[in-house]
Amino acid sequence: MSRFDAYEYEPFLAEYYDLVPAYTARGDREFYVDEARSAGGKTLELGCGTGRILIPTAQAGCEIVGLDTSESMLTTCREKLLEQPNDVQERATIVHGDMTNFHLGKRFSLITAPFRSFSHLIPIKEQLSCLDCVRRHLLPGGRFILELFQTHPQRINNPKYLNEVEDTPEFALPDGRKLRRTNRVVTFHRPEQYNDVEIIFYVTHPNGRTERLVQAFPFRYFFRYEIEHLLARAGFEIIDLFGNFDRSLLCDDSPEMIFVTEKCEDVPDAHARSI
Ligand SMILES: C[S@@+](CC[C@H](N)C(=O)[O-])C[C@H]1O[C@@H](n2cnc3c(N)ncnc32)[C@H](O)[C@@H]1O
Repeated sequence: MSRFDAYEYEPFLAEYYDLVPAYTARGDREFYVDEARSAGGKTLELGCGTGRILIPTAQAGCEIVGLDTSESMLTTCREKLLEQPNDVQERATIVHGDMTNFHLGKRFSLITAPFRSFSHLIPIKEQLSCLDCVRRHLLPGGRFILELFQTHPQRINNPKYLNEVEDTPEFALPDGRKLRRTNRVVTFHRPEQYNDVEIIFYVTHPNGRTERLVQAFPFRYFFRYEIEHLLARAGFEIIDLFGNFDRSLLCDDSPEMIFVTEKCEDVPDAHARSI
């Protein structure tokens, strides 16, 4: 399995993704729709998944391209789009592609990486490669929004996280099945700054049959000044740094680190900075 296929090889994810209350209740949609509106041009979303943000953006009258490696997530996104009026469908384009290596032949006013999709890029080489693609696809004055979680120090090596923790108590799905979800860290990789994690779905069918479905993937964690250096190295200037979608400043208990950036125009060739 290649590094980014965690979503591709477990098609059950695309089925349950839009039903997980923690995802549907996430307060990020309005933030991204507002940013797309004020960008005033086309938006590119890296890791658009099932269209949780892409579709409301198109509904708000903004043109948006969504890029993702996962065919199963994109299939769900396409199915949801087909239920939309024609004008919404026309404003949304879906591309199967890798955020570390894409050539779309057009440039954007805004590029976003919502809901931690950048954390799927483990080595710095892949992160820089993604940022290089982003720079090349931004119009002059264009913005790039990089959203990451603020790393909790205990998540780095506290053995209590090796045990399953319930993040979604059991609830009923529309078709009568019941779903409960837990997560755990399988292995800490502190020197490389990532954890192998599992998200575990327990499904109970109406006839009593139960399933345990596991999404296992490596997840990178970042620190504020590491990202500030990375963005500077890749030719971006930070305009704002928020700790949540209400645009509050980053503080000790902020759940997110949302970097709103602009590309610097006078930066040497990307390969000169690569490692
Ligand atoms: C947590 S989901 C976020 C989906 C969507 N942005 C949202 O907010 O609901 C992360 C997405 O990133 C995609 N992804 C992971 N690695 C990727 C890569 N290298 N290139 C493009 N997409 C990638 C996954 O397939 C998945 O759909």
